This record gives sequence, C-alpha cells and structure tokens, in this order.
Amino acid sequence: MVRPKVYVTRRLPFPAFELLKKYCDVDLHDSDEPPSREELKEHARGKDALLCLLTDKIDREIMDLAPDLRVISTYSVGYDHIDVEEATKRGIYVTHTPGVLTEAVADLAWALLLAVARRVVEADRCVREGEWTIAWYPTFMLGSAVYGKTLGIIGLGRIGTAVARRAKGFNMRVIYYSRTRKPWLEEELGLEFKSLEEVLRESDFVVLTVALTEETYHMIGERELRLMKPTAYLVNTARGAIVDTQALVRALREGWIAGAALDVFEEEPLPRGHPLTELDNVVLTPHVAGPSDERRSTLFRAVVEDLMRFFRGEEPLYRVSYDRLCFMA
Ligand code: GLV
Repeated sequence: MVRPKVYVTRRLPFPAFELLKKYCDVDLHDSDEPPSREELKEHARGKDALLCLLTDKIDREIMDLAPDLRVISTYSVGYDHIDVEEATKRGIYVTHTPGVLTEAVADLAWALLLAVARRVVEADRCVREGEWTIAWYPTFMLGSAVYGKTLGIIGLGRIGTAVARRAKGFNMRVIYYSRTRKPWLEEELGLEFKSLEEVLRESDFVVLTVALTEETYHMIGERELRLMKPTAYLVNTARGAIVDTQALVRALREGWIAGAALDVFEEEPLPRGHPLTELDNVVLTPHVAGPSDERRSTLFRAVVEDLMRFFRGEEPLYRVSYDRLCFMA
C-alpha cells in the first residue's frame, strides 16, 4: 500500500506513535506549542491526512492547500476547530475521540462544582497566605451546600449523562435541557426535561456540557445569566465561547449569580490579568478536564487506529459528519 502522508501538529509521546510511523510518512511538528498559521499552511500541503489538536484551526484555506487531503483526525472530543461542513462537502473524513474522555471530564466538572460551592481554592489560599488567624467562627468561609440541591445540565450527551450519574450520591434533583429529549435517561437516572429558561431559573448549579456550534455560540449571555438565581453557580467544562465572557464577568461582579467554575475560555491561554482572575467567586483551571493519566495514551491510540481503519478502506469508528453534527459532546 502507498504510505499515506500525515502531518501531526504536536509532539505526541505515546507508543501508538510508532504504529503511525510504521504505516505512514509522518511529518511531525515536534513541539508542545501549536504550529503557527504559516507552518500549518506549509505543512498541510500535499498531505493525505492531518492529525491535529483542538488549537489548530482547520478551515477551507487549509483544505484548499491540501487537495489530496482525505482525513482530518483530531485528538479531542470537540471538533469546533474544524470546518466539518466544508470537509464533508469535499468528501474529507473527520474523526475525533469521544468516549475515552467522558468520565474524566465529568470528574472535573464535579471537582469544579464542589470547589466553587465550598470555596476550596479560596480556603487553600487563606491557609497558605497566613490568613487563617481565628481557629473557627460561625461565619467563617460560608459557601453553598451541594447535597440535595438542584443540578441543571445543558447538553445531555455522553459527558452530560456522566455528570448526571454522579449526582445520585449527592441526592440532587437533576433537570436538563438538550436539543433532543432522552426519555430513557429520564427514566434510568430520574432526570426531568425542561426548557433552557427553566433550567437556568430553577438550578442551583448549571453545568454546561454542550458542544460548541453556531447554535450554541454565546448561548449563555446576559439574558440567560440574569435568569439564574443569585445563589446559583455556573460550571463550564465544554468550550469557552458557549458563554459570553463579558456578560459573565459582569454577572460575577454584580452578583447576578454566586460564582462560576471554568476550565475553558473564549481566549486560551487566558491572558494574564484577565478580569476573571481578579474575582474571588471564580475557580479557574487551564483546560485540563480530559484524562490526566495513562488514558491520554489510550486516546492517541484511538486516533491512530481510526486513521489506520480509514486507510485500510474501513469505516472509522469515530467519524463526525456534517449531516449528523451533534449538539452534545
Ligand atoms: C477537549 O477539550 C476535547 O475536546 O477533547
């Protein structure tokens, strides 16, 4: 078989990389930093496949430069950095990595929810900075209870479902909004389907697990934040651009909501001194919700194996196609 030419846009130090090199001519961007736009354009030329990350914008311009391109594989569950519609029109396959990171992302959504509600990060700072000067008093570090509260999930895909499953142990009422209603999950997990407005109004914690699409861009803006309770918290482990950051900063400053916990941002890395970093009622993590252990390697194997499947003429397991573009991650 002719060896396919693959541009790999980042150093991926995993065993499956050897497998990729065995069957493909690999052009590697051997760095942890993303390639510049110019580098991406230059190296995409003449390639049969791109193996990219969520920070690499793969659009029409890149596709024009790579007329032989047959497949774009992303080492991520999200694919908002790829123009899937354009790729589908050109018959270019797009593959991604759902499944492997579901539980890890749900774990981090919960870690964030608990951290912001119980002020874990602030409390840690208080101890380290020598501000713990009175052993205990009744109004010290008041936060919010989680047990028995209402959890609102926006986007009931794999990750949203994994977040909902974890709520059982906290005896929570779980309500959700999703483009497609999922009666079998309502029954299995005791969920209630609500409109977006109802979820925002009734929840003590709103967790966003929806994919970023044209439809979900700035889905949470001023109007939506004002619908939330002043005692409620927003958790985002999906994509930054689902929330209008400026409106969120105002909501947090002016007390329209109690707090937020965010792993994703409209601009990443979040610029030093960003208004969000000045607020105490926010917990911030640097887009780390995916697996933090050996499952990163499993993820990479999944990408490589799907690429191999494609080149053997088989249907990849994790194909994204425009006509099936899903609302949930
Ligand atoms: C991470 O954000 C991913 O989409 O995999």
